Amino acid sequence: MCGIVGYIGNKNTKEILLEGLKELEYRGYDSAGIAVLQNGTFSNYKAVGKLVNLEEKTKDFTTKDFAVGIGHTRWATHGKPTELNAHPHLGESSYVVHNGIIENYAELKKELTQKGVVFLSQTDTEVIVHQFEKNLKTPLEPFEAFAKTIGELQGAYAILLVTKSQPETIYFAKHGSPMIVGINAENEKYFASSDTPLIGQCSDVHYFEDGDYGYVTPKEIAIFDKSGIKKQPLFKKLSTNKLSAQKEGYRFFMEKEIYEQSVVLADTLMGRISDKEIRFDELPHDLFEGVQEIKLCACGTSYHAALTASYLFERHAKIKTSVEIASEFRYREPIMSKDTLFVVISQSGETADTLETLKMAKEAGLKTLVICNVDNSSMVRLADAAILTRAGIEKGVASTKAFATQVAVFWMLSLYVAGERKSLPKEEIERQITLLREVPATVKVDDATHEQLKRLSKRYLHGHGFFFIGRDVFYPLALEGALKLKEISYLHAEGYPSGEMKHGPIALADPELFTIALLPQHMLYEKAKSNVEELSARDSTICAVSAVAFDKADDFIPIGVCKDYMLEFFEMMVVLQLLALEISIRLGNDVDMPRNLAKSVTVE
Ligand code: AGP
Repeated sequence: MCGIVGYIGNKNTKEILLEGLKELEYRGYDSAGIAVLQNGTFSNYKAVGKLVNLEEKTKDFTTKDFAVGIGHTRWATHGKPTELNAHPHLGESSYVVHNGIIENYAELKKELTQKGVVFLSQTDTEVIVHQFEKNLKTPLEPFEAFAKTIGELQGAYAILLVTKSQPETIYFAKHGSPMIVGINAENEKYFASSDTPLIGQCSDVHYFEDGDYGYVTPKEIAIFDKSGIKKQPLFKKLSTNKLSAQKEGYRFFMEKEIYEQSVVLADTLMGRISDKEIRFDELPHDLFEGVQEIKLCACGTSYHAALTASYLFERHAKIKTSVEIASEFRYREPIMSKDTLFVVISQSGETADTLETLKMAKEAGLKTLVICNVDNSSMVRLADAAILTRAGIEKGVASTKAFATQVAVFWMLSLYVAGERKSLPKEEIERQITLLREVPATVKVDDATHEQLKRLSKRYLHGHGFFFIGRDVFYPLALEGALKLKEISYLHAEGYPSGEMKHGPIALADPELFTIALLPQHMLYEKAKSNVEELSARDSTICAVSAVAFDKADDFIPIGVCKDYMLEFFEMMVVLQLLALEISIRLGNDVDMPRNLAKSVTVE
């Protein structure tokens, strides 16, 4: 999704902006641009596609001494990914970059057009700069004109604006999209839409709140809240550990992230399991007191982790649990009762729909918890309590290690609540704790399996679709396997509960329909097997994943013999991730940045 950087200082502004944008690349984008104001003159460059195209365009452009600059990676919402639609957008003498959506842009555009303003792009963003320049002419001082403009916008935004009428200033506003300002000992000021571009450049950062706007100059950071009251920045130390993931010999970040799962899962468990109990020291001790129901809300892969969690919470903690897709929950006027713990799950902590449901739950007075991979993200700052998944930076757009750590956290949390409520015998909690300790070893990629999947992948490049099927927690895993394949191979894949086949989907069965069947030895094996046999009898091509040999399968991917279905879950998860990876590589796709997708979906 879109990314923003900004800089005021004496260093090489062009390089700083481009380096910052590179750190945001993993979020997904389809065009990029920068605007630099130096000695009263603007230089503006835009390019469609990857950042190398922008680098190529700016190769003869140099900046030295004092300058202000803004940069942007765009993920198209209004208007196609073209150079004209790429940010920064120009007015007469100002440039703007924007993340989010201006909902009333059509009305503003109409009024501006009637006044003779000519629009160059199809974006919602362009209205911001024209509206600002209209207000500037009324006449208002630049900051007053900016404040007035912000007051006229509806929707979600993180905005940076630079103007010739105040050439040493960057104006900013934040509402619903993340934005940070950073400082360092050299008196430089940086902006970014997430921490990553600032690590190594800034010592301290301030996270803007929704409704904040203001300006930054070499001497001052002026922040105003939504009522126009000036407030002091609240600086926090920024981590110096760049963790800037390099591929380390792997072909793609996704592959590296699949292989890293063993290490990050060990980190996720660290300090949270002892022989007899699960500990979450970060949780308020009374978080589950009086809670009669858990509601889980998320999108995409995080939703699949939530769905898995719903089985575990009911099975272990004996607590009523429901799961919601955030984009649906937002608008269906849900009933929220105060004895519900509202849990949002998000790798990024910035997904617009999920964030909005968290706000709704807070407004309704529910206790809230976030399971998240990014500390200081919007959701972590907003929720009453947070559990960090400790997966490290995930660069591949297709989530792998984040999902693994989410499920591990949920497994632990279900046992933690079971311990509090005494809903499972102590011995059972202790047994499951021993199993949890085995998870890091279980997800280690087995070389032979990876080799087999590399070879097998060539048989699955055509056909009219894939069914991924499983029962119980293997149903959300099937959904996740299908999503992984869809995201990076662009092949049609659906996940189903195995028992649903005969209620309709089996009509599609023929040799060109590939069924990836999850057959765990320790969860409803016989029942799942009969469902697969029904598909096999109708000539669907079957690829079975199991510890138990299965003679009806056309292809068989063996997993190790495990003691419990949850360990089988984690082993099968790795198989499905590698299968999607290898099919995508064979098809020649960009595994880490698949078409049309963004890492962090900060618009609804
Ligand atoms: C997963 O591979 C995705 N690309 C996507 O479904 C993602 O899980 C979803 O957009 C939610 O993101 P979040 O976890 O950052 O909230």
